[in-house]
Amino acid sequence: MKLVVRRHPKFEGVFWVEGFEGLRPATRNLVPGFQVYGEELIQYEGVEYRVWNPFRSKLAAAVVKDVREIFIKHGHRVLYLGSASGTTLSHVSDIVGVLGMVYGVDFSPKVMQQFIRSVVERRRNVVPVLADATKPETYSHIVGVVDVVYADVAQPRQAKLVADNCRLMLKKGGGTLLAVKARSIDSVEEPAKVVEQEVKTLAQNGFEILQTLSLEPFEKDHVMVVAVYHG
Ligand SMILES: C[S@@+](CC[C@H](N)C(=O)[O-])C[C@H]1O[C@@H](n2cnc3c(N)ncnc32)[C@H](O)[C@@H]1O
Repeated sequence: MKLVVRRHPKFEGVFWVEGFEGLRPATRNLVPGFQVYGEELIQYEGVEYRVWNPFRSKLAAAVVKDVREIFIKHGHRVLYLGSASGTTLSHVSDIVGVLGMVYGVDFSPKVMQQFIRSVVERRRNVVPVLADATKPETYSHIVGVVDVVYADVAQPRQAKLVADNCRLMLKKGGGTLLAVKARSIDSVEEPAKVVEQEVKTLAQNGFEILQTLSLEPFEKDHVMVVAVYHG
């Protein structure tokens, strides 16, 4: 069967690859010829796309599960908390394109090294920030104001951390995506209760919650919280 690539009907810069494996999300490769994490590269009508694996990326899982909004668009400035080696962040970099900018924060020097080698050195729209995301005042002067905050730090009190970052850097009306790993916050508490508590914290800090989306079967016990920041 021949592969066909179509635009995602809702999300600018996101595509569907249609072929023998069904529908798979993809982004247009900002650095043709280069993979970031061994993802499949596809050529279609003179353009190269990177297939976006929902088992490797929670944002791809959210797209496959028909999330209401991802907020990220061409030319946007994005603060990405918990960049790790840049698997998901590299697709965000594809979406915002050359006119956008993605600030990737991680506190692990080891993953930061890999991130720099596989993503930052090849992409001019990515800035690495080696810092603790619980201390946004240490890097807000580097980042400035952003359109979107994406958080996947797998840490306790993620919502509090997100609210502190948004207060300093997210524009009013900007979007937030928070991947909540329910079990890492409190391994005894029911995952649903943990998510409820995180949502409550966001609501108390000026966020309007649009959706909480389970990422099963791609990510066990993970929920994507989609919110707009009103301040
Ligand atoms: C689940 S991984 C992120 C995966 C990545 N978002 C992706 O999809 O490719 C969580 C990352 O958060 C980082 N992290 C955890 N707590 C942090 C903190 N307080 N500040 C900065 N980074 C943190 C870890 O070092 C780790 O790399």
